[in-house]
Order: sequence, then C-alpha cells, then structure tokens
Amino acid sequence: MEEIACFKNIQKSYDKPILSIDKLHLMSGECLIIKGKNGSGKSTLLKIMAGIMSADMGEIYYQNSIFPAKKRHLLTADSIYLASKAYLFDCSVERNITYPLHFKKSKKHQNSVEEVLRWANLTHLRDKHPDNLSSGEIQRVAIARAKIINPKIWLLDEPTENLDQDIKQKFYQLLRQLLEKGHSIVITTHTEEIAHNVISKTLQLVDQKLSL
Ligand SMILES: Nc1ncnc2c1ncn2[C@@H]1O[C@H](COP(=O)(O)OP(=O)(O)OP(=O)(O)O)[C@@H](O)[C@H]1O
Ligand SMILES: [Mg+2]
Repeated sequence: MEEIACFKNIQKSYDKPILSIDKLHLMSGECLIIKGKNGSGKSTLLKIMAGIMSADMGEIYYQNSIFPAKKRHLLTADSIYLASKAYLFDCSVERNITYPLHFKKSKKHQNSVEEVLRWANLTHLRDKHPDNLSSGEIQRVAIARAKIINPKIWLLDEPTENLDQDIKQKFYQLLRQLLEKGHSIVITTHTEEIAHNVISKTLQLVDQKLSL
C-alpha cells in the first residue's frame, strides 16, 4: 500500500492536553477506525487532519511537502470531514449537494447529481429545506455531498449514527468501493458494525495517544 499522507507529532491542548500523536500514516486503500471514550479527542483529531482546526504543534507530510498542522493546509482540498451532526446550508437538498462543486477546480472525479440523489434515496426530497428533514435524511444529504466531491481522503466522524439499515448497507458498499479505488478513509465510531462490514484497522485513542 502506498502512503498518501503522514501526520507527525500532533499536539493539541485545550485547558488540558487532548492529543499527543507521534505518527499517523494514511495509506491508499486503507480504512482506519478510531475508537475511544467520549471526550478522548477523536473529533479533534479528524478536524486537525481535515485542516478545519489547528494543532498546537505538528507536521503533515503530503505530496512531497512538509507543512505545519494548521488550519486550511494542503490536505484540505483533497479531503472531506463529515461531522456526526452534519451542517447543512440554508437552501434546498439539491443545492446543498451541488454547493461544493462551485469550489472545485477539477471536475474529473465528480459524480453526477442525479446519480447521487438516487443513490442516497433523496430524489423525492431534492427541493426540501434542511429544516424539514429528519436527522437520518440530513446525514444522507451530507454523505451525498461527500460522494459528489469524491475526495481522496474521507474523514468520517460517527457517520452511521442516524442511518437506517438500507442506507447503512449502501454506505458500507460505498466505503468498500472507495478503498478498491485507492482512497483513504478514517472513521470514528463507537460501534463494531463498520469493522464487521469493511476491511479496516482499528486504533484506540487513549490518554492522548493512538495504539492498536
Ligand atoms: N473548543 C473547545 N474548547 C475547550 N475544550 C474543548 C473544545 N472542543 C472540545 N473540547 C474538549 O476536548 C476533548 C475532546 O473532544 P472531542 O470532541 O475531540 O472528543 P471525542 O473523542 O470526539 O468525543 P465523542 O466520543 O463524545 O464524540 C473533550 O474533553 C472536550 O470537552
Ligand atoms: Mg466526537
């Protein structure tokens, strides 16, 4: 397996130390599952990896460059962070799904809107406003949005919490397809179910550190 990115010496504290990660490798075609107690720092780590939060210290190795683990780093453009409670914009389901396409330079990996709406079983809800959706429907919009951007690195924070069995099975199938195509996936979860459905490596976040 080829290494896509490596995170080294990632340190983050709030009023107390949260993360002190020596090394974390992201490999092409690999799915990492990160488990750990509430408050152990899993979401914080994913947000730092996604470049939506700065670490206090640390470097990222990516595409033959080394740069500090600060906000909006080089990986941001090639990754997506999917929050457990997805944030949707104040516009229709369809606009929410197509919104990120306006910021993407390359169109070559993008999936079609119709295809993605159908996949997520959202076609009948395409004109609805997020205020009128259930939490599972909101999560489906967020996954559909990720699917349409189709980034190299997927950072998924408790992605299956609100999903019913049907869409969960589709979601696991999506993860397997992504891995076959060489994407890299990191998932935080409290359940064993994803590990049972997708070939993955589970890491535990305990006392600021990751271990097998
Ligand atoms: N903005 C903030 N300011 C201060 N402390 C914070 C902030 N955000 C998170 N924390 C603290 O950092 C710790 C790690 O939070 P984080 O959300 O990363 O945990 P988590 O492992 O994702 O937990 P969960 O399983 O509940 O999702 C927690 O103790 C939390 O209270
Ligand atoms: Mg969390």
